[in-house]
Amino acid sequence: MKNQTVFVCESCQYKTSRWQGRCPECGQWNSFEERLESRNKIGNLKPAKPVDLSGVAFEPGGERMATDIGEFDSVVGGGIVPGSLVLLGGDPGIGKSTLALQLSLNLGARVMYVSGEESVGQVKLRADRIKKNSVLSVLSQTDLGQVLGIVEAQKPDLVVVDSIQTMYSENATGVAGGVAQVTFAVQQIMRLAKQNQISFLIIGHVTKEGYLAGPKTLEHMVDTVLYLEGERFANLRILRCVKNRFGTTNEVGVFEMTGSGMSEVKNPSQLFLGEDSIKASGNIITSVMEGSRAVLLEIQALTSATSFGYPKRTTAGFDNNRLQLICAILGKRAGLNLSNQDIYINAVGGIKIDEPAADLAVAMAVVSSIKDSVLSDTVVIGELGLSGEVRFVPNLDKRIKEAEKLGFKQVICPKGKSHAPGKIKVLQVKTLQEALRYL
Ligand code: TYD
Ligand code: MG
Repeated sequence: MKNQTVFVCESCQYKTSRWQGRCPECGQWNSFEERLESRNKIGNLKPAKPVDLSGVAFEPGGERMATDIGEFDSVVGGGIVPGSLVLLGGDPGIGKSTLALQLSLNLGARVMYVSGEESVGQVKLRADRIKKNSVLSVLSQTDLGQVLGIVEAQKPDLVVVDSIQTMYSENATGVAGGVAQVTFAVQQIMRLAKQNQISFLIIGHVTKEGYLAGPKTLEHMVDTVLYLEGERFANLRILRCVKNRFGTTNEVGVFEMTGSGMSEVKNPSQLFLGEDSIKASGNIITSVMEGSRAVLLEIQALTSATSFGYPKRTTAGFDNNRLQLICAILGKRAGLNLSNQDIYINAVGGIKIDEPAADLAVAMAVVSSIKDSVLSDTVVIGELGLSGEVRFVPNLDKRIKEAEKLGFKQVICPKGKSHAPGKIKVLQVKTLQEALRYL
């Protein structure tokens, strides 16, 4: 076996034999990392034979480990699978350590919490805020070999590694947190996990550009990839699953960051439609899907006369290009002159809207602000087409039911086949103009 060092671009995986300041492939600056590459020949492998699936017995490897945090368990598909690798990513300060510590405290003696970032005392301080007098074995260590040695000897059910970027091994090249180190660490962890049926929850930082430092390669290696997102200064946190070898990826977990850790939010709509909401022009309630749940939230629009030639379009939590499109539709199909109006859109509560079902609500919020007319006790749902038609959206029944549950009197929505019968008045509209008549 022969080893050779190569330099690999962190962002596009381009390989060269010499370090370069700028990647000739993707143009990224200072992105090359040194990596050891083995050039051993593949020996005499036993030829594998295809088998008939119906004759295969699946060994599930034991029961899933439920963490008692319902929102977390439902996202991973009912608990952590023994021997699996779960990667938890997210921006610094978003609450990864807090969430990991919280579920470790729930599982108690079955967990080993490896902290490469904080001392045992710091972990204790944090644990006390979450749950007093709790039992947890904590290891403050960054040397990968030592950590894995202790894990192999003690064989806990779950090991939390906080974070993978702090783990260092002398057997790999590069600095801690670099591609070579991170990849090596995860390879070693994977070997140990599969041999001993130990699950690992690996925490990883996401860089500003939005990928896990020591990059996407990590996502390919692990079984489950979770992302914790949210605005740092708002309390809402959303746990998303982007890859899951043992379940679906369409469930999300909603949490609120509190003084004593993350608390589960069973009914997110109530969080977004808090008491602070007032009846004012420009405020329209809509419904978006978070996983399989319908969530009601408020869209706020503010319009004001443009003071410099070019009208401003500013959004928070909503796609700016989508707003431009909606403005164009309002201009052409509803005869509204918006060329002398600055428009600001805000999705309340720090949520990011990424589905077109909120289009109609945004359009109506803009008009409501311009006309200074209030639309109360109403939920607005629908996607806007370029010709001003209101298009059908998925899960309409679920959204209407949620609106009814929270005591709204009417819902403006697209024409469709089935509608949940109930007390709520369903106003079906075909076009934008029809909807605007209710303002
Ligand atoms: P942390 O979990 O350390 O974030 P990460 O590991 O993702 O970098 O904590 C994030 C922030 O949350 C931190 O600034 C302090 C705050 N916090 C609370 O608001 N409540 C709590 O109970 C704890 C433990 C932390
Ligand atoms: Mg942390």
